[in-house]
Amino acid sequence: MSELTAETRAHMVELTHRYPEKRSAIMPILHLAQSVQDEITPEAMQMCAEVLDLTTAEVNAVATFYTMYKRRPVGKHHIGICTNTLCALLGGDAVYEAVSERLGAGHNETDVDGTFWLERIECQAACTHAPAMTVDWEFMDCQTPASAVDVIDRLARGETVVSTRGPAIRDFQATEHTLAFPDDGLAGEGGEADAIMCAGLTVAKERGMSAPPAPAQGA
Ligand code: FES
Repeated sequence: MSELTAETRAHMVELTHRYPEKRSAIMPILHLAQSVQDEITPEAMQMCAEVLDLTTAEVNAVATFYTMYKRRPVGKHHIGICTNTLCALLGGDAVYEAVSERLGAGHNETDVDGTFWLERIECQAACTHAPAMTVDWEFMDCQTPASAVDVIDRLARGETVVSTRGPAIRDFQATEHTLAFPDDGLAGEGGEADAIMCAGLTVAKERGMSAPPAPAQGA
């Protein structure tokens, strides 16, 4: 595991400058720590608390509440499979079972060599392209059991895998760094909303529909 360094601390301090109150930087700071260590360690919580003038108990409360923070090493790739209602109706459970069998891992477990972390995830607002899978939080839309296992196989062979929305998959720690510093130049990666995502808007325009005016202040 990589060590947290003076440079890490300096980057944490840099993140606090974005907010009127430095404690507001806790979430990007935890993502930054995870980008360095592949998990949230007690050492990271201590450094985070020092930078933010919080107690370690307060940092621990946040790190244990949000499921994107892990307290065991994630490995090279985080695999999320949505099994919420719309994805489940269109085969999300079958996708999950196939990937679970391929990895020999269940929910919030890693495969035997610690390369892949598997997680049943909640709705990712990708219901138009269900069943949805994420690899290091990049979308793989409209998956089948076979296509999802193929993604795992190609990643395991070290091949380049490209999200169905454009960006090339990097790895979990690289994504965590982007979550801490989203202005890394990658914001323009990927395509725009497609016709399926905009179907409701298209119908509304065709029918001349619009939202009712907002109520007046104090009404
Ligand atoms: S239910 Fe799976 S993305 Fe919404």
